Amino acid sequence: MKKRMVSLAAVLALTGIGGIAAELKPEDVVIYRQSMMVGLAWNIGGIGAMVKGVTPWDQQRVAFLANRAAQLAPMPREGFTPETAKAKSDAKAEIWTNLKDFDDRNDAMVAATAKLAEVAKAGNEAATKVAFLDTIKTCKGCHDEYQVKD
Ligand code: HEC
Repeated sequence: MKKRMVSLAAVLALTGIGGIAAELKPEDVVIYRQSMMVGLAWNIGGIGAMVKGVTPWDQQRVAFLANRAAQLAPMPREGFTPETAKAKSDAKAEIWTNLKDFDDRNDAMVAATAKLAEVAKAGNEAATKVAFLDTIKTCKGCHDEYQVKD
């Protein structure tokens, strides 16, 4: 089982001066970014279940989940720090040689989730489904390039 907990001591040791990433061990920074990705997947996955008809469509719930996804979207990127390049993770080394492409893909995902939240709130089911598919394309595109598949 993967270690998931950033040690409490590490968090308590943070002084608030300087970036958090700079004060955590690289392996804890990896846990942070993976956790944020899982949080994104939790919310996006909840919408996906409704798109697939596994759970009944509920526009209000979709808007709620999309809003949370949009808030989480910029968070994982902060955990892709140069110090983590050699830490054990499922991130491919190519991230560091293609950083501009990685960042462009990240920006596209952040923009897509923001759009999804906006469209879901506006309330049109068909438009929401299109925005959802646009969003998961940005997830998959980046994973195909930069995530090691187990
Ligand atoms: C800019 C690239 C990029 C985008 C965009 C992206 N991911 Fe990721 N994702 C990664 C990388 C790289 C990893 C592996 C991270 C690691 O192991 O440290 C990852 C890991 C994950 C994981 C596994 C976390 C774990 O270790 O348990 C999940 C779940 C995930 N992403 C969900 C998503 C979802 C959902 C989206 C779209 C809303 C998304 N990702 C968008 C690059 C991206």
